[in-house]
Amino acid sequence: MSTLSQGSGRSASGRAAQLSLAPRPANDADEDYESSASNARGLGPTGRKPRGIPEPPKLDRHGPARILAMCNQKGGVGKTTSTINLGAALTEYGRKVLLVDFDPQGALSVGLGVQPHELDQTIYNVIMEPSVTVSDVIRQTSVERMDLLPSNIDLSAAEVQLVVEVGREHTLLRVLRPVIEEYDYVLVDCQPSLGLLTVNALTAANGVLIPLECEFFSLRGVALLIDTIDKVKERLNPSLEITGILATMFDPRTLHSREVMARVVEAFGDIVFDTAINRTVRFPETTVAGEPITRWAPRSAGSKAYRALAREVIAR
Ligand SMILES: Nc1ncnc2c1ncn2[C@@H]1O[C@H](COP(=O)(O)OP(=O)(O)O)[C@@H](O)[C@H]1O
Ligand SMILES: [Mg+2]
Repeated sequence: MSTLSQGSGRSASGRAAQLSLAPRPANDADEDYESSASNARGLGPTGRKPRGIPEPPKLDRHGPARILAMCNQKGGVGKTTSTINLGAALTEYGRKVLLVDFDPQGALSVGLGVQPHELDQTIYNVIMEPSVTVSDVIRQTSVERMDLLPSNIDLSAAEVQLVVEVGREHTLLRVLRPVIEEYDYVLVDCQPSLGLLTVNALTAANGVLIPLECEFFSLRGVALLIDTIDKVKERLNPSLEITGILATMFDPRTLHSREVMARVVEAFGDIVFDTAINRTVRFPETTVAGEPITRWAPRSAGSKAYRALAREVIAR
């Protein structure tokens, strides 16, 4: 039982004071976090009663894919981490998933144990060379039913070269079209900017998933992001929707985290997922391990959270 759930009958400030007197060692925080995810009144991390999410229906065939852009122009908010771990969690429900590294930094590829600078062919070659097909570049990952379309720094050149192309915003959609029927989900890990690559991801997508760090200043950029999404919807992709806002780096022990969460829920309402991803050292560990948390620490609170997110995503 965590300190938070024991103390949930007290005032928030009383709890905060008590918590600050009793810091926990970092390495056991992960398991403690879990019980704090819903307090004694049955409220989830968002402060709302979680909507019941049924077990996802089984599939008897795959495709066509729903394309989700993992998008926030701020770096370090958990886009790449959420792409890998949501993807892996979706495969546990029988879904076939393609992860698209659409950031020239190649962090998604690294997080899956691929060294981007050693790759002969990446998404860049599919974009620039008509003779290279997307199937030539897609590779399997260590997770069954999860494939990767890798990228590396070459992709930053594509961004420059695409500016003069006709139909430049539809480039990613053209790249993905031949394989859409094969997958149930395509998750596009966007770069931290609202430039042409991100506009391409939004143009190709059915939905946007916005990871939002539970820090005060992270709220500032979201208005600009939503403005961009609205423009893409109006001009390029009328069916684009915001699939959901995912609170990341949440620390239920801090008043600050809970206050930011309350603001996010107040501002965005039902599109905020009931699932929040807690801040835990387990995620940086998985990057070093080159595999998803659902494999690195399958019973951890982080794994359970991404599984819950996968169920919410399937239900939306
Ligand atoms: N929930 C979390 N708790 C703690 N660290 C995290 C969490 N999610 C991601 N991280 C770490 O934060 C850093 C940035 O995350 P990342 O997913 O790469 O963000 P982005 O893709 O938005 O730049 C990485 O080192 C990652 O391991
Ligand atoms: Mg990233």
